[in-house]
Amino acid sequence: MPTLTWPSKSLPDLQPADLVLEAVTYPQAQGYPPLGGFAEAVPENHLYLGDNLKLMAALLPQYEGRLDLIYADPPFFTNKRYPARIGRGEDSRHPQEWQLAEGYADHWSDIDAYLNFLYPRLALMHRLLAPSGTLYLHLDWHADAYARLLLDEIFGRERLLNQIVWLYHGPSPIRHAFNRKHDTILVYTKSSDYTFNTDAVRQPYNPNTVKTFNSSPKAGFGKMPDLARGKVPEDWWYFPVVARLHNERSGYPTQKPEALLERILLASSNPGDLVADFFCGSGTLPLVAARLARRFLAGDVTWRAVHTTRSRLVALPAPPFAFYRDSTAQIPLSPFGLSLRAKPATLRAKSFDVAQDRPQGETCNPSHPLTYACGTPDCLGQAGAGRASLQPFAFAQGKLANRTISIVNPPALDYWEVDPAWDGITFRSANQAQRPIRSGVIPLKLESPIAPKYICIRAITVKGEQIQITIRSGSS
Ligand SMILES: C[S@@+](CC[C@H](N)C(=O)[O-])C[C@H]1O[C@@H](n2cnc3c(N)ncnc32)[C@H](O)[C@@H]1O
Repeated sequence: MPTLTWPSKSLPDLQPADLVLEAVTYPQAQGYPPLGGFAEAVPENHLYLGDNLKLMAALLPQYEGRLDLIYADPPFFTNKRYPARIGRGEDSRHPQEWQLAEGYADHWSDIDAYLNFLYPRLALMHRLLAPSGTLYLHLDWHADAYARLLLDEIFGRERLLNQIVWLYHGPSPIRHAFNRKHDTILVYTKSSDYTFNTDAVRQPYNPNTVKTFNSSPKAGFGKMPDLARGKVPEDWWYFPVVARLHNERSGYPTQKPEALLERILLASSNPGDLVADFFCGSGTLPLVAARLARRFLAGDVTWRAVHTTRSRLVALPAPPFAFYRDSTAQIPLSPFGLSLRAKPATLRAKSFDVAQDRPQGETCNPSHPLTYACGTPDCLGQAGAGRASLQPFAFAQGKLANRTISIVNPPALDYWEVDPAWDGITFRSANQAQRPIRSGVIPLKLESPIAPKYICIRAITVKGEQIQITIRSGSS
């Protein structure tokens, strides 16, 4: 059998990521435990921030041979940068006016470097798949031929189930070749005994076909299709690109349409199955998986991707999920803080600390630029002299009334969430607010599902930087 070789081809020694449980999210308070969650098991759905080579290596002890489906949509070897769109309400027809931020890069010194990236990751995906599992590898003309040879080597040539062509329309600058308007999805199964739900993906026949067969039973040369049941789709699929699907757009680059992932998940997994996407980008796979009652593992190396995925899961709302971070992957922190106003009576406390949790250990020094509040309820509640000294760093003020936590005059925020029973270690996100893709106006009030005790608020600015503040009862 022919195999693909290149001078630096090798499978590197595995260096598993050191995974830190960063947060457990209960989208829109769903599933939040009545007592604050401390005794709850970590949810089975996972979101990861980190390089997926280290991540998959870290998952092997628990998940080897256990994943029912993996969808992989890696960089395509385009040698381009893909910015993310973070503005709201701009005219889609004028991209030069869009507000952009860093998305992800698909840059390589040469094809060898790209193959050195892809090969060990595909090998790990093969190890993680269950015996009846399926890999969908999404690429295009830039590298699909190389990937097919790699997959033949890893899975076996006979395990190629389909080479799916996804067709779409869209503008193109190409003038001296045919417009390149399709991607290739290589589908490999781990064994010959694989999941494929034919009936779940059947489609109605074209009305002309139905008319022809109904008028002439000989139309199919004696073969009569089951017109009522519908047909199994061909291996070429037309779905519009996300740029044309206004309701799906997240602003994250190269986002794939939900309908595409829906067909993949329906065909090759069942409700309750464990499915994964380690190049999850905006999170289309985990989103559709949650909607179709599959459990998911999803990860990405860029923080913006993970944040976008989390936002989409929260909006669904998805079942609770755990968010892990490779300890070497950093979430960008905002140099600014939020200031909060807390009513002592509602917290039944004598004094409060309000502090941006950075730098560690310096939470009560108003002269430090990153630390902007400390002291008694008077200082915070009436905000006399205390507030004056906060001005240069404080963007917002907040209030707590019973279970309603509100902030006013915040900086440009994309998202904020609240843990009303902060244990100082794992953030349990009991409720979340986010900037809608159209209006851009983020809600400034959140209801806590329990009476707040020790509150932690995390906010993500439009630039993608995180702010964390805590309000602690000094007497409890
Ligand atoms: C084509 S995009 C995925 C788009 C996604 N399917 C969606 O629907 O939004 C590829 C993604 O792979 C991620 N990526 C690139 N290298 C990675 C790595 N080493 N580990 C994890 N993710 C990586 C990029 O950050 C990017 O989000």
